[in-house]
Amino acid sequence: RKAFDETKAGVKGLVDAQITEIPRIFHLPPGALTEKKPSVLSPDFKIPIIDFAGVQVDAVSREAIVEKVRYAAEKWGFFQVINHGVPLSVLEKIKDGVSRFHEEDVELKKSYFSRDFTKTFIYHNNFDLYSSSSSAVNWRDTFACYMAPDPPNPEELPLACRDALIEYAKHVMSLGGLIFELLSEALSLNSETFKRMHCLKGLLMLGNYYPPCPQPDLTLGLSKHSDNTFFTILLQDQSGGLQVLHQDCWVDVSPLPGALVINIGDFLQMMTNDKFKSAEHRVLANRKGPRISISSFFSTSMLPNSTVYGPIKELLSEENPPKYRDFTIKEYSTGYIEKGLDGTSLMSHFR
Ligand code: SIN
Ligand code: FE2
Repeated sequence: RKAFDETKAGVKGLVDAQITEIPRIFHLPPGALTEKKPSVLSPDFKIPIIDFAGVQVDAVSREAIVEKVRYAAEKWGFFQVINHGVPLSVLEKIKDGVSRFHEEDVELKKSYFSRDFTKTFIYHNNFDLYSSSSSAVNWRDTFACYMAPDPPNPEELPLACRDALIEYAKHVMSLGGLIFELLSEALSLNSETFKRMHCLKGLLMLGNYYPPCPQPDLTLGLSKHSDNTFFTILLQDQSGGLQVLHQDCWVDVSPLPGALVINIGDFLQMMTNDKFKSAEHRVLANRKGPRISISSFFSTSMLPNSTVYGPIKELLSEENPPKYRDFTIKEYSTGYIEKGLDGTSLMSHFR
């Protein structure tokens, strides 16, 4: 693992060296890819698509949208949004920016190479390379950038994606605010509930680059996981490969031009006492590529250590007793870093 890491040229570096067989560290254990079958053509197995046009127009249109958000958050933990208000030109610009950064000269990328997540902008591959829970190394390169609560000093961001990141982050913050309102309303809570609980404070963005893979059956672009966020806004290009685990089947999250994918994270699952679902997902490797995606995490990682989370009291009753105990951000991050647990087992840690 170390040898691969030390080149700092990433997975793209392997592809540029025209390898035909992928190194062993990328090999998944036998059976890991085929453990669950993709579903076939059932109309019930389509990720909900929700049209946000009309969300600010009148109460009736808004309630219809809230109803769809509730269904999607409860049954799937995943949905796609169209007419979300982020201009197409902004989406194109950030995809171009991410692709341009990863296609920069290796020497430039090396200057950003780090696994220190306290830095504003870092480029790396496989944040979990040295953790016990990662069974194989993923076929992707990534950069990570904190956009809030403290906006980065523009000079700290690479030129290739600087303006695009700043502009896209503004739109993501405003769409994120709207989605937190809709999620609150879907629980019959005051619209501001999640915002008051600091859920809109921290924004971590990942710029993901999945190079073409000569042996896509042996590895994954991204291993199965759930997000340790409140929720995530994902922009994917038209390549495909993202799948969500739904009723024990892998279901494709088919690219829809101009759409954004929203997925509920572990924190919202715990805060809603399992009403909303944080679904596991993964990305397949592909002979063709690269595939570009941008994950925007509404995340707790920059909140004060003493902040407490747990099931929202107003949602609890005698019939719905708390399924999780209250815990601090410090307890959560300690579990995550020390135990290297995946989301599902980390949630059960607080049950
Ligand atoms: C992620 O799960 O963070 C990224 C998914 C994707 O690249 O589509
Ligand atoms: Fe994810």
